Amino acid sequence: MIGVQNLSVSFGAVQALRGVSFQAQTGSITAVLGANGAGKTTLLRTISGLIKPASGDVTFDEKTITNEPTEDIARMGVAHVPEGRGVIAEFTVEENLRLGALASKVNIAEGLERQYAQFPVLGQRRKQFAATLSGGERQMLAMGRALIANPKVLLLDEPSLGLAPLVTAELMGTIKQLCAEQSLTVLLVEQNAKSALRIADHAVVLHVGAVVADDAAAAVAADTRLRQYYLGLNEQ
Ligand SMILES: Nc1ncnc2c1ncn2[C@@H]1O[C@H](COP(=O)(O)OP(=O)(O)O)[C@@H](O)[C@H]1O
Ligand SMILES: [Mg+2]
Repeated sequence: MIGVQNLSVSFGAVQALRGVSFQAQTGSITAVLGANGAGKTTLLRTISGLIKPASGDVTFDEKTITNEPTEDIARMGVAHVPEGRGVIAEFTVEENLRLGALASKVNIAEGLERQYAQFPVLGQRRKQFAATLSGGERQMLAMGRALIANPKVLLLDEPSLGLAPLVTAELMGTIKQLCAEQSLTVLLVEQNAKSALRIADHAVVLHVGAVVADDAAAAVAADTRLRQYYLGLNEQ
């Protein structure tokens, strides 16, 4: 379980997070939704220790990790797939996957085989440079690189960005399956509220750095006011 309590982050005069609190349960998907600039990326970067908050705490299975170095947080099992995917275009698929296993104790050969079984297209393209992959394949590579170290928590920042609707639907199905099979705690940051709410169990909505909703995904999806004002979902 990941919890944040009263988290505040500022960049100079910009207050990116304002007293954010919520919990993400083990074995479930928590969608973090909100418009561009709402503070979603800042939230994930604070959880993985890349940003130290002005106040508030991050807990992982009851342990406070707010001031732990980011490498230690990663070693505890928190994997972060950043906005823009962060794969290295000049490295092959396999080299990118190996990077994900570097700081962990996993057997690399076994880890690679597991990821190729999960994402067969990565196995087919293992010797290709990541630059040659499609957007959907790059997202799989970014996820494979995070998953190779057997994390407990998966932080996904806008995985559907720039992907076609069919590719997005397939990706969301994969995220749901991974969460269930590996009992992961998934934080799914998305501007694409519709896709995220289809697979999420729980949803937190941010608006200029503050939580405006924290409820079951189905309840958020059914809330006309949230849909209209914060999620950019037009009524059919
Ligand atoms: N490194 C930074 N320096 C200054 N301002 C930042 C930085 N990162 C984010 N911000 C600001 O913090 C706010 C939240 O940004 P961000 O967390 O990226 O939002 P989102 O991911 O929801 O689009 C925005 O106003 C953004 O301009
Ligand atoms: Mg962002």
